[in-house]
Amino acid sequence: MEIDYDEDFKKIAKTLKDDFGWDNIGILPDSFKILLNDCIKAVKACTIPPISNNLSSLDIAVLMNNSLEKNKIYQGDCLALIDLLADKSIDCVVTSPPYNLNKKASGGGNSKQSYEGWYADDKPEFLYQSEQRLLISKLLQKCKGSIFYNHRVRYAWHSRNVFKTPTNIYHPMQWLSDFPIWCEVIWYRKGTTGHANGRCRLADERIYQIGKPHVFHDMGYTTVWDISPTKNVGHVCTFPEELVERCILMSTNEGDLVLDPYMGSGTTKRVCERLGRRYIGFELEERYVQLASK
Ligand SMILES: C[S@@+](CC[C@H](N)C(=O)[O-])C[C@H]1O[C@@H](n2cnc3c(N)ncnc32)[C@H](O)[C@@H]1O
Repeated sequence: MEIDYDEDFKKIAKTLKDDFGWDNIGILPDSFKILLNDCIKAVKACTIPPISNNLSSLDIAVLMNNSLEKNKIYQGDCLALIDLLADKSIDCVVTSPPYNLNKKASGGGNSKQSYEGWYADDKPEFLYQSEQRLLISKLLQKCKGSIFYNHRVRYAWHSRNVFKTPTNIYHPMQWLSDFPIWCEVIWYRKGTTGHANGRCRLADERIYQIGKPHVFHDMGYTTVWDISPTKNVGHVCTFPEELVERCILMSTNEGDLVLDPYMGSGTTKRVCERLGRRYIGFELEERYVQLASK
């Protein structure tokens, strides 16, 4: 059977031969060569690489010389996809993770409330915080500049969380304190984020700039950003463009590469396009990848 080898497959075979003197690709069974070839095509088509037959996404990235095409949004779990990026290949990260607000995805679970339009945002808090720590560790490895990480204080009334923290609030510093935080910005949202269960209503969020910037343009910003939230269009938690714009303007140059591992509706992508920056996005849900790619 004639196998339709991808150009990158041929390049990998050539690199293995030229750089490592490994000339044995010809003796691999056809089934393995077909799998490898399909994986390479899948990565290029921006789908999740199959993690099967002992071939992980990391193996594929290594084989493909750790390169993801720029100006694309890749569908999948950012914790896995980030391994496909080469170390220090990103100039800046701007992102807002899910906040673990104990909301089930639309139609999912047995929640008493209907969270129509939501993505799944309901993990045991200890698992959530561990994942966020892991993500930031990986981001620091991949990014040579600043990571702008938007989060907020949450009141810890989540009765369904078995591993509640002993405090009455969840503060982002609980999982960020070991990281090199350069700056903390208070984002004053002007409005509040809903009822507060006997406490003052939350009207602010935080933006943590993590890691020393390798570019700094003094835009005269203070540590309080007074920015109204954006009207949500097709996504429940859209970033205001101005917030992303500020992060990018002060910490990147034209042509720099910005990563948003939680791309959502594509705000970071749109701002990058407008400001002449390149971007890479990751997003778990296909409907948001489609929305953001419009
Ligand atoms: C707070 S929203 C980000 C909104 C985005 N900043 C915007 O302006 O639209 C978080 C997004 O992360 C996505 N998400 C959740 N878990 C993810 C994961 N493990 N990997 C990639 N994306 C994920 C959700 O589907 C959601 O769209």
